[in-house]
Parts: sequence; C-alpha cells; structure tokens
Amino acid sequence: MGRDRGLRVAALLLTGMLTVFAAACGSGQRAGTAGGEPSVRVPQDIEKEQDGESRASGNEVTAEELLQADFLLYNVDCASAEPAGFAEGQICGLYQSVSDQPFGTDAGSGKTWGYRQEDYMVREEDRLGEGFLAGKWTIKEEEYPPGGAEMGFAYDFQLPAGEYQVTVGFYNPFGPRKIDVDCEGRRMVEGEKLLRYRLTEKQFDVRVEDGELNLKVYNEEGKRAMDIPILSYIRIAIVPEYTGELLELALEKYTAAEGGEMYTKASYERYEQAVRAAEALRIQASAKEADYKEKFMELKEGYTLLEKKCRYDSFRPGEQWRDTDNELIQAHGGQVQQMRFLDDETGETAARWVWVGEDKTAGARGGIRAYSSEDLYNWQYEGIIMRNVSSREQLETEDYFKELYEGYTEEQLDNVFRCLDANSAIIERPKLIYNEQTKQYVLWFHADGPTEESDSSYAAASAGVAVSDSPFGPYRFIDRYRLNVCPEDQEDMYPSSRGMARDMNLFVDEDKTAYIIYSSEENLTLYISKLNDEYTYLATPPEKAVYGEDFIRLYPGAQREAPAVFVRNGDYYLLSSGCTGWAPNQARYYKSNSMLGEWENMGDPCIGDDKVTTFDSQSTCVFEAPSGELIYMGDRWNSDNLSDSRYIWLPVEFSEDGRMELRWVNEWKY
Ligand code: GAL
Repeated sequence: MGRDRGLRVAALLLTGMLTVFAAACGSGQRAGTAGGEPSVRVPQDIEKEQDGESRASGNEVTAEELLQADFLLYNVDCASAEPAGFAEGQICGLYQSVSDQPFGTDAGSGKTWGYRQEDYMVREEDRLGEGFLAGKWTIKEEEYPPGGAEMGFAYDFQLPAGEYQVTVGFYNPFGPRKIDVDCEGRRMVEGEKLLRYRLTEKQFDVRVEDGELNLKVYNEEGKRAMDIPILSYIRIAIVPEYTGELLELALEKYTAAEGGEMYTKASYERYEQAVRAAEALRIQASAKEADYKEKFMELKEGYTLLEKKCRYDSFRPGEQWRDTDNELIQAHGGQVQQMRFLDDETGETAARWVWVGEDKTAGARGGIRAYSSEDLYNWQYEGIIMRNVSSREQLETEDYFKELYEGYTEEQLDNVFRCLDANSAIIERPKLIYNEQTKQYVLWFHADGPTEESDSSYAAASAGVAVSDSPFGPYRFIDRYRLNVCPEDQEDMYPSSRGMARDMNLFVDEDKTAYIIYSSEENLTLYISKLNDEYTYLATPPEKAVYGEDFIRLYPGAQREAPAVFVRNGDYYLLSSGCTGWAPNQARYYKSNSMLGEWENMGDPCIGDDKVTTFDSQSTCVFEAPSGELIYMGDRWNSDNLSDSRYIWLPVEFSEDGRMELRWVNEWKY
C-alpha cells in the first residue's frame, strides 16, 4: 500500500535478532542498550537493509528499549503543535522524534511518516488523562459537506513488513457522532459511536507487507457539522514474540524498586504473585509463547496497578479518611487512646495510638474494628477485633469461635449468638480500657437488638462486655447487661423498662476506678455507674447499688446521648449530643469536680456553628494529643451509606475561665 515510496516488500520476520533502528527521540523515554541479544521478533528494517548499512550504525534498538517504549514505534499525539516534544510520562515511539508532523521525513529518526495535510483540517486542544494537553484533528464546519469518506484524516507510516497492533483514540467533547477507520485498505472500525465527553479507544492488529501502514479516519455517514470526525491519537506497536528472555527483561523493567512498604498490601501482593509466576515460568523449558505472554501481561498489569499508600500529615475533618491500605477507615462511634502493648512482629513493647470503632462496611450491623497509628494521621488496619456471628453453628464449627468460646455451655453459646448475631444484633460505640490488675483489655459497647418480648432492633438496650489479652483481640464476649435503675425516691423517666443502657462511653479515673457513662430510661437520662475492679461488670449489682456511691443520674429527662468524658486541670467534662438518630444536633457539655459529683450544665461548646448541629457531627470521644492539646472526635453519620460516614476531629480549646470551645477548621495539625 505504499502510496509514495513504492518500497519493495521484505516480509521477513527475524527472530533472534534486533534490527529495529531507532529514532533519536526528543524527550521520550529511552533505555540503555542491553548487553545480551535477547530474542524479540521485530520487523526487519527494510530501508537500512536495502541501503546495505550495518546494524551497528549507532541507533540500533534493543529489546530493552522496545520494552521501555511499550513496543511503540509510533505514538502520535494528533494535531499537537509542532515541533512538540513529549510530555512527562508520555512514551515517544521509537520511529519518531516529534509528537506529530505532516507527511515527510522525521528529522530525528529518518523515518517517513505523518498526516496528509488538507485545507479543511483544524487543530484543537484536548485535555486528556493526567492533565497534559494533547491535540485533536477536527474539520472546519463550513467545509464539511460533502463529508463522508471523502473528508477525513489520512496518516501514513513507514514500517517494515510485519504484524502491528494499532490503537486509535478519540476524545469527543462534542455531541455523539460515528467514526470509521480504514487501515491497509480494510475497514477496521465501522460506525463506532463516540459518546460525548468520553475517550473511545479502538485497537486492531494489522499486517504490513509493503513498507508503509496507511490509515484513514472519517465518518462514512457524515453529512452535517454535527457529524464531523475527530482524531486524538494513533499508536502503532510491534507485536513481539513473547519468550523467556523477554520475560526476563520485563522482570527487570517492572521492578518495584521502592519495596512493599510504599504500596497498599493488596496491590503489592498481586504484583508479587505476578513476579513469582513470571520467575517460575522463566525456568520452564517447555513453556509456550502463550504462557510467556500471559505471565508478561500479568506482570505488567501487576506493576501498573501498584497503588501507593495514602499518606496524611494533617486532619481534614469531613473528608474521606483512608487507612494505610487505602481503604476507608471503619471505626465509627469510636475511641482513640495511646496504648502500650507487645508488638507481635518485633517482640517488643510498643506504644501506639489505638482506634476502635464500629465496622459499618455492611451497613448498620457489623462487628468492631481496630486501627493503630504512630502519628494519629496514618492508620493501619489491625482487623476485626470482635466479629459478629452469622449463624449459631458457626460458634461450634469455625476455629476462631471454637477457640474463643471453649468451655461455654450451650446456653452461654445461645446467648453469644443472640448478642452478636450479624442479622439482628446492634453493636455500637465500642470503648476499650486496659485493666492493669488482670492485664486484660476490656471492651464495652452498646449491645442491642430484638428480645423475646419485642422485635424492635433497639429493644435489648444493654451494655455488652468482651475481653482479650491483646488490644487487637480477638475479644471473647462475656455478656450484655441492663445496668442501674432509678432509685425509689426519684422520678423514673421510663419506669416501664428499667436499667436500659444505650449510647455509652468509659472513663478510668486517676485512682484506676472505671466508670461507664450511658443513656438510660429510653435515652431520657444519662447515668454514670462505677465498674468493678476487673472492669467487667458494675461495682455493685443494681439491686444493691447505692445512689451517689455506685452511680448517679444526670439531668433526668434532658435526653442526652453520645457521651464523652475527659479531665482537664482537675475538672471533669462530659460532652453529649441530643437524641435524633443519625441526624446531627446541638452539643451540650457538663462540668464537675468528680465523676459521681455535681455536674453543671455548661451549654453548647461550639462557636460559629451556625446550623447548631455540632458542625454536623455527634460526639464520640475526646482525647489528648502528644502536644497536650485535646482532640474532639465526632461522627458525621451518612444514613444513606453508613460506611461512608465521616470523622470530624477538631481541636478543643478553652477560655480562661475553663469554658470548652469547639471551632470548625478545614485542615489542621496537632
Ligand atoms: C444515634 C446514636 C447512634 C446510633 C443511632 C441509630 O442516636 O447515637 O449510636 O444508635 O442513633 O439511629
């Protein structure tokens, strides 16, 4: 099909020799020359052969270079301004030195290629991919009729005889239209619809026999301005022979030099698997080309899809927050604290931040997760520390549960299932404390769900407790309990169901006495109750508990929940929300000089919170950063997609007279 040059056809495919002569690419990616002579099937360079020039002419292409160039001989950014170089990361085809040119000899490569200039052709800019501007051909509207096959964009490329893979790309910023592509006299793309604002890419293999590849892009049915064809790029790649040597080179090229630490676990594992498979195949004598190709492709894909870990160096309240594997952090209604524990990997005691919270991956019902961090910004997932249970049998068949619940009676197992049933149990607002005496980590949470008397999902209204030897579990569920009840001489706000416990938190005082703070009396009254020395139950059972010594009620009927307690300069603060389900409402805090003392209502700590919704969040924890600053942790629940509920962390400030102040900040550091 050579229209201009009528080159003699040399349809030889040479295997075992490298005979592609390269262009001196402007700023394209070039690699050094490989030492050996790997076997890559490349078309013989006809011109040089005919001229009788030696292959050692200085611009020989190695298999390595071909690999670096992704086997591309031409990578044409159509209609880009001349003489344009190549953008960072864009590959320069080995037969070109400019991104596009009118048909003629490429000054750098000596190859003859380019577009056939027609008066009707118009250059336009495209914004493709990673922000670099690329060109596109289109046609002057007033000149379009007659349109159709007569008006399009023709390109010719000097190429030795051989097999090529051609890719044509169209980025369409206009209304939908159709496109046809002819190559080597055959229709390769027929009436393909180019949708608006989409990049359409078509790929086909073609055989060149006559030394030149001829390509034409047009719209056969085109009549009006709205049918005008466009063309963004053309890529022509050698179809290589996939061999052990090529795979060897690919292993070198696709090396994740920075190591596993840089990448997400999943993407690095996939990559490593591909590397292992490629290495194994390399030494297999009987491997076929198809096998090499498969492993080559897997390796390339594994490398291309390596995903760098998200790194943060500030808090950005309300934005998505991902763990070090780039997954959304699932620790809602949670708590953060610094803990010392034995690091399994190093065998040493480590001090790290631990964040426990609700796993909302599957919606409202899920288990409890933990994350760890060294800087409070970047969090590593530590697993589901207390799993929920999908069937009663699972407790007796799956090792995880069998080990955990060894020695439990049938009746106890029934209870574990009822309380942790993935289909019905509600597990919310988990909070973790370490008991120095028992050396156990004790996890309390709002344990709810239907009961024998009621189908309501919040009927149980109990506090659940589980223990483990490690902060990251697995936690063994002990039981869930109703807690203290309103004394006879006080007005019970909800006498029909006593001892309720829903939204909750924990607090360990200086003397190591632990308290559970929770919404009771159908969320109308907050209670603070003392825990026993082991932190696993109330200090005194409800029937014997003494008001003021074992527990107190706070502002009966005030209807507060989401409690979070902290101490500052000897003052105890209790932050809370109103009760409006997932919808945010106004915060309120109380101040006291001891946990079971008199709590004074201090009002809303938020400043500039115009919507009076605690900046669209609900409190869950306040903790001290290494700077000594206190951090407010809240949840911005998304009831339509609970797993994408956001975290609102804000600095807590104080006025001179000890009033708590919470202000919005878009981004901050402690
Ligand atoms: C909120 C509570 C959350 C969750 C939610 C369910 O009031 O604070 O923890 O229980 O209701 O609607």
